[in-house]
This record gives sequence, structure tokens and C-alpha cells, in this order.
Amino acid sequence: MADAATKLTDIAENVVIAPHANGFAAEITGISLADGISDAEFALVHQAFLDHKVLVFRDQPLEDLPHQAFAMRFGELDGHINKSTRQKNMPNVQVFSNVKFDGKTTGVHPEKGTLVWHTDKSYTATPSLTTVLRSPAIASKGGDTLFADTARAYENLDDATKTQVADLRAIHDWGRSRLKSGERPATDEEMTAAPPVDHPIIRTHPETGRKAIYVGNHSSHVVGMDVSEGETLLAELEAHATQIDFIYRHKWQVNDVIMWDNRCTMHCVEPYDAAKEKRAVHRVVVKGDKPV
Ligand code: OGA
Ligand code: MN
Repeated sequence: MADAATKLTDIAENVVIAPHANGFAAEITGISLADGISDAEFALVHQAFLDHKVLVFRDQPLEDLPHQAFAMRFGELDGHINKSTRQKNMPNVQVFSNVKFDGKTTGVHPEKGTLVWHTDKSYTATPSLTTVLRSPAIASKGGDTLFADTARAYENLDDATKTQVADLRAIHDWGRSRLKSGERPATDEEMTAAPPVDHPIIRTHPETGRKAIYVGNHSSHVVGMDVSEGETLLAELEAHATQIDFIYRHKWQVNDVIMWDNRCTMHCVEPYDAAKEKRAVHRVVVKGDKPV
């Protein structure tokens, strides 16, 4: 029997890939994610993902199962450490929503760590390859998601900084990240599941070979460097990488599906009024390699 996520016909003749100016992020049309995609379609989507780092599919009404099946084309799924955001009976689907069952808002953004620049699950030994997000509810004002191209940001570092950071490693720490973003402190159980790890500050993409800056809110300080000096260096690298020239701003529509390459991008959500505006995203995360 064919894989549920694979079409029997192997065609991709309707797929159109429209990159944004400067090549960072592309919109893909002529494909329906709900029915599973063909191998030929997957090949095009995968190449576009490597080329453009953020992919946008508009008008793709999806349930959780086909959403998950699409993500599984890219690799093994990864759950989330915060159990309260897991979808019932589907631990690999997380829901970040401020909409209650009665349709009213909770008044708070569900995960404050998403409001600051980060790359997904960098506090684990094998951080996310891609995150596939869909948007059942969007905010009418605010709530855009911003993406930074950290490979282009690396290429635009001056030579002295490239040399300075070439062999440095940073500690990434879920507990510290939550304190920095103002979330509830990590529990002992969470810290046992995700103890601090260290990763290179400049990582090399396992598929394209391109180098990228790998920092963000989950990074805490620099191995072998005075803590506050390391914090300053990480903050400087983040500020460099998130300059306007390196950013794609995603303005959500209901039923968008977007996916991004966590190995060469950072992202954050622009604030919105969580008392007035309803915003819900469902997310599925694919596990990546150990950064090198
Ligand atoms: C995420 C995340 C961004 C958003 O799902 O990893 O950071 O737009 N979400 O909600
Ligand atoms: Mn994220």
C-alpha cells in the first residue's frame, strides 16, 4: 500500500515556486498538501526549501493528521518538551493558541519564547530541521512572524568577527531561555529531559554546506568566556543577523502552511493584543542533526 502521504501519480507539473526579492522565502502554488504530495512534488519542495529557507503555501486547509504526514516527508518528528501545548492523543502536534473552548481569548500569548528571536529546539542535542506551522486563526493586527536569514547574515559578517567566532561554542539552555523570555520557570522534569547543551556559534548546513550564525534566545553564554562577555557577543551576533536586510516578514492568512529551515534561520512573532485578537497555530517539528 502506498504511504498515506505519497500520491500514487508521480507528477509535479502544476507546482510554481515564486521566491521573494533577494531569494529569501518563496511562495509555492499548484500543490495540495491535504491529499499527500507525490515524490516529484516533494523533490521540488525540498529543493525550494534548501534554496529559499522559508516556504509559504497559501490556502491549505489541513487537519492535524495530514499536517503531520506532510512534515514526515522531511524526517522523524520531534515532540515538545512543554506537555501543556501537546495536542490530545497527538503528542507530535502542538497547539499555540490564545482561544479557549468557549471562543473567548485567554488574554495571553501562549508561549512567550516565540516573541523573541530563536531557532527551534536549539536547547537540545539534535535541534529541529524544520517546523511546519499552519494557522487556523490569525490576528487582524500584529502577530506577523519574522524570519532572519542567518546564512546571509554570516556571509555579511566582517572578517575579524568571522575569525573571532569561528571555533566558539555557545551553551543553549531551555531553563535560562524561559527566564529571559518571561515564561514560567522550567520544571525539574523538563530540565532532566532537556539539560543544557553546547553548539557551534557558526554551524555548517548539512545539506548545502553553507555556514550560518546559530544563536537566539535559547543560547545563554559562550563556552570558555566570561559569562557577561559571552552574553554580549551573542547579543551582538543576534542584532547583526536580524537587520532589516536579512528579514522576511510573514503576514498570515487563515490556512497558510509555512515551513522554515531552523539550521539557517531565526524567527519571532511580532506582539499583538492577546486579549482582543485570536491567534492559533498548530505546529509539527522535524528533528535535525547534531550541529557541526
Ligand atoms: C514556533 C514559533 C511562531 C508563530 O512554532 O516555533 O516560534 O508564528 N511560532 O507562532
Ligand atoms: Mn519557534
